[in-house]
Amino acid sequence: MYVFRKITAPDAEEISRWRYPDPYAAYNGDPTSVPGLLDPRYNYHAVTGPEGELVGYFCFGADATVPVGRKLGLYDEDALDVGLGMRPNLTGRGLGLGFMQAGLRFAGQTFSPTAFRLTVAAFNRRAVKVYGAAGFEVVRAFGDRGDEWLLMRRPA
Ligand SMILES: CC(C)(COP(=O)(O)OP(=O)(O)OC[C@H]1O[C@@H](n2cnc3c(N)ncnc32)[C@H](O)[C@@H]1OP(=O)(O)O)[C@@H](O)C(=O)NCCC(=O)NCCS
Repeated sequence: MYVFRKITAPDAEEISRWRYPDPYAAYNGDPTSVPGLLDPRYNYHAVTGPEGELVGYFCFGADATVPVGRKLGLYDEDALDVGLGMRPNLTGRGLGLGFMQAGLRFAGQTFSPTAFRLTVAAFNRRAVKVYGAAGFEVVRAFGDRGDEWLLMRRPA
């Protein structure tokens, strides 16, 4: 049902215009993010649905980490960092777990990691719930102004 392919410039431009309803505006796209989305080091992939329409994206590696976590050395252990987003109008409908499972299957086949790792904003209980259902466990909470991030991990 979901097809993964390397992100293209039109995909990146579309994602940069996505707007999430509150309280998820922190995940809004931004035109200045387009070069990062297209940077091959970040392994952004577009995900399409049955009609070939863009339904979300995944990134694998450094762009799925946050500076304070890097400063604390939280990414020194071997694992594949995973970042993702579904198209705004598809969120909140129970589609997240299937989307996540498809992304992990793709990442397992493509990168053969030993483990998957996620950094998620602690306020985002909806995302944390989906990741827990996908088998991730919270390793620790961290941040530089309180525990605003959760580090989660799952064997591959
Ligand atoms: C994160 C994401 C994949 C989650 O997928 P989703 O399809 O929107 O999530 P669901 O609708 O399946 O909701 C998951 C669960 O959270 C629950 N939930 C929703 N809002 C909640 C809230 N405010 N507090 C607690 N639980 C909440 C739902 O009831 C559901 O529970 P259930 O599995 O028991 O039914 C998706 O919202 C997304 O891509 N968002 C983009 C922005 C983002 O948050 N990115 C995450 C970056 S780490």
